[in-house]
Amino acid sequence: MSDSAVQRFYRFHATVYDSTRWMILHGRRRAAAALDLHPAASVLEVGCGTGLNFRFVQEHLDPAAGRLVGLDFSADMLARAERRVARTAWRNVELVQGDATTMHLGRLFDAVFFAYSLTMIPQWPAALDRAAEHLAPGGRLVVLDFSRFDGWGPLAPLMRTWLRLNHVETLRPYEDELRRRFARVDVTYWLGGYNFTAVARKGAR
Ligand SMILES: C[S@@+](CC[C@H](N)C(=O)[O-])C[C@H]1O[C@@H](n2cnc3c(N)ncnc32)[C@H](O)[C@@H]1O
Repeated sequence: MSDSAVQRFYRFHATVYDSTRWMILHGRRRAAAALDLHPAASVLEVGCGTGLNFRFVQEHLDPAAGRLVGLDFSADMLARAERRVARTAWRNVELVQGDATTMHLGRLFDAVFFAYSLTMIPQWPAALDRAAEHLAPGGRLVVLDFSRFDGWGPLAPLMRTWLRLNHVETLRPYEDELRRRFARVDVTYWLGGYNFTAVARKGAR
């Protein structure tokens, strides 16, 4: 796998991720609830990082029947996710190193979750295509991510620039591209456009 700028970024940031990101990455529990999981559901988290969302997903799963797959292309982030899984003794979690834009896991999921990962993927439409391919008919895709800070007045361009310096691009048409791919999409913006939750449903075949 080629070594992208984002993978290099996380070589250092993996070491401080859990101790710093709680300040800026919000809405995890609410987004996990929006996956609307049944206890035996299968979930794919794309760009799972160190696994900070796992416990919120697990709250909705029966550990003996539900399944959670975390995919990320950063070996450094996955190593920390592995440690988290080992610490908690979750036996229903599988970690996969792979690229969201080319992933092919050979199975379908009831739900696919992107949390603060989609805006970091330059080829993000391909990641949405792969996600749609991995969703079972009737399944749900939830995207939690930064938005455009529309209600932040003169601070908005500063926030967007700061995020861009950290490989996060907020000004892409995420909502439009979700609507092109999914039967129904509901988007909620939080904190004056700080972040958003998009819930997309795949139509039954
Ligand atoms: C801001 S972190 C979010 C991690 C986790 N989802 C969370 O909510 O804390 C973004 C993650 O997306 C991963 N990522 C970015 N581009 C990716 C790609 N093309 N394929 C797989 N993972 C990717 C990064 O390695 C990183 O772990």
